[in-house]
Amino acid sequence: MLRDCSVLIVDDEEVMRDVLESLLVREGCRVRLAVSGAEAIEAAEAEAFQVAIVDVMLPDINGIEVLERLKAIDAEVPVVMITAFGTAANTREAFKRGAFDFIEKPFKNDEVLVVLRNAIEQHRLVTENRTLRHSLKLQSHRFSELVGRSQRMQRVFDLVSQAAPTRTTILIQGESGTGKELVARAIHANSLRSDRPFITVNSGSLPPDLFESNLFGHVKGAFTGAVSPKKGLFELADRGSIFFDEIGIVPLETQAKLLRVIQEREFMRLGGIDTLKVDVRIIAATNIDLKQLVDAGRFREDLYYRLHVITVELPRLRDRPEDIALLAQHFLLKYGEENRKPGLDLSSEAIRLLEEYHWPGNVRELENVIERAVVFTAGTTIGADLIPEAIRSSHRLQPLTFEMPPGGIPFRTVIEEMETMLIARALDAAGGIQKRAAELLQVKPTTLNEMIKRYGIPARGRRSQKAASDGDPRPPVAARAGQGSRSHPEAIAADLLEKRLSSRG
Ligand SMILES: Nc1ncnc2c1ncn2[C@@H]1O[C@H](COP(=O)(O)OP(=O)(O)OP(=O)(O)O)[C@@H](O)[C@H]1O
Ligand SMILES: [Mg+2]
Repeated sequence: MLRDCSVLIVDDEEVMRDVLESLLVREGCRVRLAVSGAEAIEAAEAEAFQVAIVDVMLPDINGIEVLERLKAIDAEVPVVMITAFGTAANTREAFKRGAFDFIEKPFKNDEVLVVLRNAIEQHRLVTENRTLRHSLKLQSHRFSELVGRSQRMQRVFDLVSQAAPTRTTILIQGESGTGKELVARAIHANSLRSDRPFITVNSGSLPPDLFESNLFGHVKGAFTGAVSPKKGLFELADRGSIFFDEIGIVPLETQAKLLRVIQEREFMRLGGIDTLKVDVRIIAATNIDLKQLVDAGRFREDLYYRLHVITVELPRLRDRPEDIALLAQHFLLKYGEENRKPGLDLSSEAIRLLEEYHWPGNVRELENVIERAVVFTAGTTIGADLIPEAIRSSHRLQPLTFEMPPGGIPFRTVIEEMETMLIARALDAAGGIQKRAAELLQVKPTTLNEMIKRYGIPARGRRSQKAASDGDPRPPVAARAGQGSRSHPEAIAADLLEKRLSSRG
């Protein structure tokens, strides 16, 4: 289903208009018909469409001119041209003038739907990006230096803005590159201490003695080489904030002293006898599960509870895909300015690649990719060619959608489900044409055909009918898990899986 799309169809032939209209209405689109170029232009001036389908041969204005006029009214509307078989010159001309794609008469319904789906996706990406750029300018979707529009990041912003003005200890948890240090800085910047120092402690880089003397300072003669007294980071951070980056690797002995600072707000310099009082806000970050360290005896439980007063969980980037395009635009602005390349943009293909990647290095990895692309780009639009090969060729597999049944499940069955799903997906993307699906999967057409038969994957046209006439009242596994309509590849795979499982008893 295309759902909620709005399409302008421009054709003087009644039969063609009828065929396209009924096809698209069945898919859930709103359709506006125009019988001439003039009527099409009038319609486009009155309302915005997500896609326009234009016949090249129109009675009044040439279809290619209509294409240009439609693009002049709305530069972002993808225009799909309908051409007669074998009019290559027309097609070339149409592409030059910015046509999105073309459909050759006579066409198959599936082909039209594939092209339309792609056009709608492109329209979504382009308009969404315009909105994102706009929102970055307006400073919405951000908190201090942090950018994010996903619900999960909005919740982080709320929590941080509430906690920042207090003196409460804050623990920030998240994978590497998710923005823990940026959150720590945002907390400090939004506190009453913002004009006082923010001091970062790298917990793991020094041997324990040196680390402690760094933190707490030392008196003259505290150890060989301590020729003069020295202030520690806690003293330097007085009335400001101190940020423990990777608290999980602080040695156990030092943990006891930290606990004392948190509880009593006091400590002694190494080798000293005087107790020093400080007023410091402690912020700690970790990418290791501290509870596991506690269980393993490598982290003090009392310190763990002291740190856990307010915990900020930073989600992985792949768990908030809505933020990917926004962050990309944010870094585009940042590095565009730094490199004196204003007005940069990403092509919709580039954005699609970024949105589909799984980002093991989280925001830091995305930032590096954009910085590199900005440095290397010659034009103002960054295309897919400037996205690293590793990202272009990484195909994110959907995680399995079912839970492990209590009684287990045969390994082979799960693999078969994955294979079935993959094939059904490829067939969908290829508009049901097996040869194209085989190309997508990089297998021989005969191999694909053999697998389709072996797994009993229904042909594309028949799949939705089959779903509609299926008398089985039980929804398939994927549908039960809330995965949507039965004609989806996942649902088909789940259907087949269920049949196979029940036939095994
Ligand atoms: N929400 C965000 N908005 C804008 N920039 C971000 C965001 N999150 C992270 N960044 C940027 O990504 C990079 C990595 O962030 P940061 O250093 O805070 O991650 P981290 O969680 O501390 O990583 P590590 O565990 O490896 O130290 C930084 O350059 C930071 O500015
Ligand atoms: Mg960090």
